[in-house]
Amino acid sequence: MKRIFSGVQPTGNIHIGNYLGALKQFVELQDDNDCIYCIVDLHSITVPQDPSKLRENILDVAALYLAVGLDPKKTIIFVQSDVPAHSELAWILMCNSYTGELSRMTQYKQKSGGRESVPSGLFAYPVLMAADILLYDTDIVPVGNDQKQHIELTRDIAIRINNAYGETFVVPDGRFLKEGARIMSLDDPTSKMSKSAPNEHSRISLLDEPSKIKKSIMRATTDSEGSIRYDVENKPGISNLLNIYSVFAGIPVEKLEEQYQGKGYGEFKKDLVEIVCESLAPIKGRYNEIRRSPELVDILKDGAERANSIAQKTMERVKERFGLGI
Ligand code: TYM
Repeated sequence: MKRIFSGVQPTGNIHIGNYLGALKQFVELQDDNDCIYCIVDLHSITVPQDPSKLRENILDVAALYLAVGLDPKKTIIFVQSDVPAHSELAWILMCNSYTGELSRMTQYKQKSGGRESVPSGLFAYPVLMAADILLYDTDIVPVGNDQKQHIELTRDIAIRINNAYGETFVVPDGRFLKEGARIMSLDDPTSKMSKSAPNEHSRISLLDEPSKIKKSIMRATTDSEGSIRYDVENKPGISNLLNIYSVFAGIPVEKLEEQYQGKGYGEFKKDLVEIVCESLAPIKGRYNEIRRSPELVDILKDGAERANSIAQKTMERVKERFGLGI
């Protein structure tokens, strides 16, 4: 049994990129592994949040975890700030990471670019992420491609500490899906689909109505060539739609290319609308059942308790290695 750990920020608009890159893997891994999935609320406050909305967003993600098929009997589901050891370990890791390596993080550069004052939390974001992962002796971290650099940093920090203080941390590996790892924006297929893009038609959120899904897909940027072929460089729009189709339908891209040979973009997009709507309908149904149920909070409380007891043991080991406390 491998230990799996991953997390999602409770920042609203959970979209099919999050689903195909991460959540879908979470579910696939839960049967044969020891899985821990977190709602990383401390990460979300690296940018300002409305407190009452944040609470709701935390419960939204928890409900979505269950709605996509996570089973709390098989996995631990909890909220990051309910386990204080995340912040505690983050500080220790911060003392063992360098400003040079943190300032090279692409996400930091993107998020801080053009801002006059950048919160230190935004800078330290990947160190908190490393703490999340290392706290649970994680073997594998299922994530989208955009987290690759953060996983590399986590590995570097773990190896650095193991070398300096003796075997302390398991060095984790990232797990990325071939087709779902980087779902691109529908209106600009050269940038990744994101929760915060101003155009709501740039993404498909998991709870979108079928009419909105239809509009977003039918408007999706393609090209003027008219042939359905996978070619990320010259046909990023169609290639992205082929990826989305492939992962939702479970059909390899090459098969789809054959299936749609000689057919137009309109027909392809119409079929894709159907596939996406069919795939998301049951998720939405389950979400509506679970979201207002009192069971949801109980699951998170139970998850936090179980996560806390694992985290405590790691912290004892870490403190002992570093000579902290008495
Ligand atoms: P977040 O909340 O931005 O995204 C959650 C997951 O969705 C993946 N993802 C995508 N995958 C494919 N295509 C996309 N367009 C796309 N957009 C997002 C992300 O890669 C991620 O797996 N830093 C993390 C949260 C985190 C974490 C952790 C993850 C905090 N601590 C520890 C793993 C382990 C993040 O911002 O995710």
